[in-house]
Amino acid sequence: MTHLISLQDLDRKQVESILETSAVLKQKFQDDDRPQPFAGYFLTQIFDKPSLRTRTSFEAAMVNLGGNGMFMTSEEAGLNGRESLEDVARVLSSFTDVITIRTFSHQFIIDFAKHSSVPVINALSDELHPCQALADILTVREAFGEYPKNRRLVYIGDGNNVAASLCNITAILEIPMTVCTPENYTLSKSFLESYQQNYPDADLVQTTDIKLAVKDACVLYTDVWASMGQETEAAQRKKDFAPYQINEEILSAAPNDSKFLHCLPAKRGLEVTDGVMESSQSMVFQQAENRMHIARGLFHWLLVK
Ligand code: CP
Ligand code: NVA
Repeated sequence: MTHLISLQDLDRKQVESILETSAVLKQKFQDDDRPQPFAGYFLTQIFDKPSLRTRTSFEAAMVNLGGNGMFMTSEEAGLNGRESLEDVARVLSSFTDVITIRTFSHQFIIDFAKHSSVPVINALSDELHPCQALADILTVREAFGEYPKNRRLVYIGDGNNVAASLCNITAILEIPMTVCTPENYTLSKSFLESYQQNYPDADLVQTTDIKLAVKDACVLYTDVWASMGQETEAAQRKKDFAPYQINEEILSAAPNDSKFLHCLPAKRGLEVTDGVMESSQSMVFQQAENRMHIARGLFHWLLVK
């Protein structure tokens, strides 16, 4: 059974295949060519955190492809003690075709997948956000016509789930990557261990120096300073991350043809200014749209035998 839980489980060929399928399906979609290969298919989404893009893009993708979908929290699924995870996974996967899960614990998604007879997709955990990274790279590919080899994708901000998945996908596609964070907010030790084990030759630079980081950038990328579940740390984080805002000064320190990306939702005025969000270098809405095209490509990759 193939799942998408971490991009570290995929090789380059598989990642390129999802991206290529998504790009082809996007073009068809835009040409109003909308085949429905998944008529009668059913998508179940278990979401324990809010979502605009991920939840709706998966549902829209499944409906576009002829299927249907529904959403519930893990509490509604009975996972708060009513029933074991193993039993819920076995029952749900017996009459559903694909399951997406957004929750706090990454291990929960791994455990659920072990007992599921259908593909499980990680729709964001505290550790990783692989579907976001796929949409990000589809956007980069659209911007530059290729996977950049000689210029850096520069992530500035918290060394969080979004940063970790970006590191994975850039390592797989051999895109040079820089992660620029305040000292106490680097990528986690456990993530770096698995990353270094899987990609010993990857070009990853970690730095606290934002001006240096943006010099050879083809992309500047940021995310919120306090992720879902970290709301009580927001005030402290606002102070700690203040020097890491992507503003007009930082954008102008990067090459003129560089692009700005943000997974959204954005806190304008904190990690990014209005001016950068609305600048001609910003691709954030194209990037958000690409979530739906990646969802379609991913369903094809997982469900077409
Ligand atoms: N980027 C992203 O995952 O957005 P949502 O939290 O709205 O799904
Ligand atoms: N790092 C953010 C991403 C939201 C899409 C979070 O986990 O809240």
